[in-house]
Amino acid sequence: MTHKYLVTESFDPGILLLKISRTEALNALNSDVLRELKDFLTEEAQNPKTRVIILTGDGTKAFIAGADISEMKEKNPEEGVFFAQMGHEVAKLLELMPKPTIAAVNGYALGGGAEMAIACDFIVASENAVFGQPEVGLGVIPGFGATLRLAKFVGLPRAKELIFSGRKVRAQEALALGLVNHVYPQDQLIPQAIELARSISQQSAGAVARAKQLLNEFSESSGLNFKLDAEAQAFGRLFGSADQVEGMTAFVEKRKPQFQGL
Ligand code: CAA
Repeated sequence: MTHKYLVTESFDPGILLLKISRTEALNALNSDVLRELKDFLTEEAQNPKTRVIILTGDGTKAFIAGADISEMKEKNPEEGVFFAQMGHEVAKLLELMPKPTIAAVNGYALGGGAEMAIACDFIVASENAVFGQPEVGLGVIPGFGATLRLAKFVGLPRAKELIFSGRKVRAQEALALGLVNHVYPQDQLIPQAIELARSISQQSAGAVARAKQLLNEFSESSGLNFKLDAEAQAFGRLFGSADQVEGMTAFVEKRKPQFQGL
C-alpha cells in the first residue's frame, strides 16, 4: 500500500518506525492523514512481524502540530463530531492494539498531536519537544481524547490546568510532570527510541500483549467508548459557535482572537 502522508522504516527485531509526513503544515492531521493512519494501523495491529511501533513526526520541528485548523474552520457540529470520531479511531488503535506503541515526540505536539502521543503506551521526547492543549484558545475543547487520557499521565488537577489554560509545556517540564518517560538530545531521540523498543521486542510478544491489555483495563478503560463519544459530541457542539468561528479564523488570519464567550 502506498501512502501520501506516512513514511515507514523497519528495524530488527520487529520494530516499525512510523513517521507522519506533512511538514508544510507541521504534520497537522487533516482527514486524509487520519484515514491513512487508521488503515495503516489497522493492518499493523494484525501483522505478526511487527512487535513495537514508534510514532514520530517528519522533520525536526514538529511531532504533530494538532488537528488541521484550516480544515476544521469550516465544519458544522455534525462534521465536528465525525472529525473527532476519526481521531478517536486512530487513537484507540494506538492505545488498544496488542503491541506496544511509543510516541517519539520530536518538536511540537499540540492539540490532536499531543492527544496521539498520550494514546500511545508511553512517550519519549527530544529536548525541543513542546506539548500543549491549545483548543480553548480556538473556541473548542480537545477532541481526540485528552479530556479522558491526559489525567492518566499527569493527574486530574494538572490536566485541568493544562486544558483550561492551553499553556505549552517544554520537554524538561513534561518529564517532571510524568508526561514523558525520557528526554534525549534531538539527534539521539530515534536511536534511543529504537533501543527502548528493542528491549521490548526481545521479550515474549504474547506476554507483553497480555500485560498491555491488563494495564489498560486496570488503569481505566471501563466505559472508554462512552466517554470518548461524550467528548466527540461536546467537541462537535462547539462548531458554528461565535468563538469557534472567531478562534479558528484568527489562527488562519494570523491574529489574536476576540472571544465573546461562546
Ligand atoms: N493546522 C493547520 N495548519 C497548521 C497547524 C494546524 N494545527 N499548525 C501549523 N500549521 C501551518 C501554519 O498555518 C503554517 O502554514 P503556512 O506556512 O501556510 O502559513 C505552517 O504550518 C507553519 O506554521 P507556523 O508558520 O505557524 O510556524 P511557527 O513556528 O510560527 O509556529 C506553532 C509553530 C506554534 C506550532 C503554530 O504553527 C501553531 O500554533 N499551530 C497551531 C497549534 C494548535 O493550535 N493546535 C491545536 C489544533 S486544534 C486541535 O487539535 C483540536 C483537537 O483536539 C482535535
